[in-house]
Amino acid sequence: MATIISGKELAKSKKVQMAEEVKKYTAKYGRAPHLAVILVGEDPGSVSYVKGKEKACIEVGITNTTIRKPDTISEEEVLEIVEALNNDEGVDGILVQLPLPKHMRSEKVIQAIRKDKDVDGFHFSNVASLYLKQPGIVSCTPKGIIEILDSISYPIEGKRAVVIGRSNIVGMPVSKLLLDRNATVTICHSRTQNIAEITSQADILVAAVGKPRFVTADMVKEGAVVIDVGVNRDLTTNKLCGDVHFAEVEPKASYITKVPGGVGPMTICCLMENTIECYLKHIKE
Ligand code: GUN
Repeated sequence: MATIISGKELAKSKKVQMAEEVKKYTAKYGRAPHLAVILVGEDPGSVSYVKGKEKACIEVGITNTTIRKPDTISEEEVLEIVEALNNDEGVDGILVQLPLPKHMRSEKVIQAIRKDKDVDGFHFSNVASLYLKQPGIVSCTPKGIIEILDSISYPIEGKRAVVIGRSNIVGMPVSKLLLDRNATVTICHSRTQNIAEITSQADILVAAVGKPRFVTADMVKEGAVVIDVGVNRDLTTNKLCGDVHFAEVEPKASYITKVPGGVGPMTICCLMENTIECYLKHIKE
């Protein structure tokens, strides 16, 4: 039987701590941190994420502006909004909710965000900083995963970590963060052969593949720590489910996260942390 690591509870206590800090900073510097979110269209997943972000901002005392635009808006108009936010001294963090409509070049929009306001850590400069171990903004989901492991004081050093998925948002950066903590890291992906043979050697298994219940019991080592990053819709029940077959895997794992209530709340929590980080740098300049 595994211990379930509640990302929701961990995020809750971190948000209480952040709220206290933000209160002090707001009194000291005369204004609260300010996060601006751009939401284009009405993708249900994106709408729900943005609501979660708004709620967290209220809890922490961060000013939030959400700019909602229909998916008929042009790329040029989105770039103009980003530019205005870049130049607004009262805005500390800018987040463009992904995915953007198909007629837009996401990369172009993301790279237009000022690097010191890029709370997602997606700007080339922040990505380069991560890989070169320089100070920069680390993207939220990978950062949240490390905070989850630290919350159980898991000794990452020397352990074998296997990451399933090689996305720029999760798989690649979490692999780098685990490597920086001296884990031995293997990245599996859609072309990996004998994937179960590799994943079943993992002390830490991170599933970020985007396939419902992809990780089954035979793929998991007895006593592994299993982190489920997946947010999938189960088409039969219409409920959210992860990349891990929880019922099968939980009895084998030592620690496991659930979906929902695992990595998701920690991603939002780290977004709050990154916004505060940008604000402090910004306000001290
Ligand atoms: N859509 C899904 N996850 C993310 C994320 O971490 N950041 C942004 N901007 N959009 C997302």
